[in-house]
Amino acid sequence: MNGEVKPLIALCAAFLTAPLTAEPAKRSEPVELMAFGSCYKEVLPAPSLHTIADLGPDVFVWMGDNVYGDTEDMEVLRAKYRVAREHPGYARIRTTARVTGTWDDHDYGANDAGKEYAMKAESQQVLLDFLDVPDDSPRRKREGVYAVEDFGPPGKMTRVILLDTRYFRDPVGSDGEMLGEAQWRWLEKMLTGSEAQVNVLVSSIQVLASEHRWEKWANFPKEKQRLMELLAREDVPPVVILSGDRHVGEISVDRETVGYPLYDITSSSLNLPLGDGDEPNRHRLGRMFRGANFGSLSIDWSRETPVVTGCVMDERGRPQRAVSFELVR
Ligand SMILES: [Fe+2]
Repeated sequence: MNGEVKPLIALCAAFLTAPLTAEPAKRSEPVELMAFGSCYKEVLPAPSLHTIADLGPDVFVWMGDNVYGDTEDMEVLRAKYRVAREHPGYARIRTTARVTGTWDDHDYGANDAGKEYAMKAESQQVLLDFLDVPDDSPRRKREGVYAVEDFGPPGKMTRVILLDTRYFRDPVGSDGEMLGEAQWRWLEKMLTGSEAQVNVLVSSIQVLASEHRWEKWANFPKEKQRLMELLAREDVPPVVILSGDRHVGEISVDRETVGYPLYDITSSSLNLPLGDGDEPNRHRLGRMFRGANFGSLSIDWSRETPVVTGCVMDERGRPQRAVSFELVR
């Protein structure tokens, strides 16, 4: 089952004929379809958001670069988020899906920025406003936008763990910290304490792909090693990783390091793709997809162990890359 690519395209395509969700998704119902996306250039058209709305996912996850803020002026940032909120496709997504998310550098505030970004506390509140996070949420009171969301009933539960790779990050090249000690302790608790059958780890930047010259966990070798050691622990449930940032879509797998096949499904960008080109990635399954895209994760709860299918979909909802697996050690 693990790692098969081609026939699964048909599985993703089945979503296209799925009935539209007429009612808002309820947190207490099992997640059958999750959509995720990143790198949304808010001044450009975004057919992807209409397509996602048509698919009617139970959950939608923003994985960062949710707008291209690139500013220390919070009014400018708020104005860009307003444009994003008013996209008619996204407006429909908000009415039917549970929406959550984290940030990457551009919506945080500056290209490739880390802990030195001056407006990080203010920018945090702007993102949380965009995501409709309630005033009394713990996300409002702590530093950083990392978060956990549980969906579904006991026995058919999905836990989404959203990392913050910006707020605490030391300069690139320092081999310093990326998550910071408080977030590491929290992450360990969220993993070991999870009662979910499907655990999803969202990182704005790629975890597995290491050969390219852009941002990645591999730029912080000690942090990557720590993550892999955490995921390899017997008391930590297996996870699937979702990532964005790269303006390409691809599915990577590491079968050796953590004791089960660890997938990193990268979807980027919703509407600003890189276009033609290639790059090495020894973990990649098949080829990159370099058009505008979003990701989907469908969960088949009819088996004893749920079957997870991850897809990279083009902006019209045509599956381009897919993989299906069970999350077991
Ligand atoms: Fe981006």
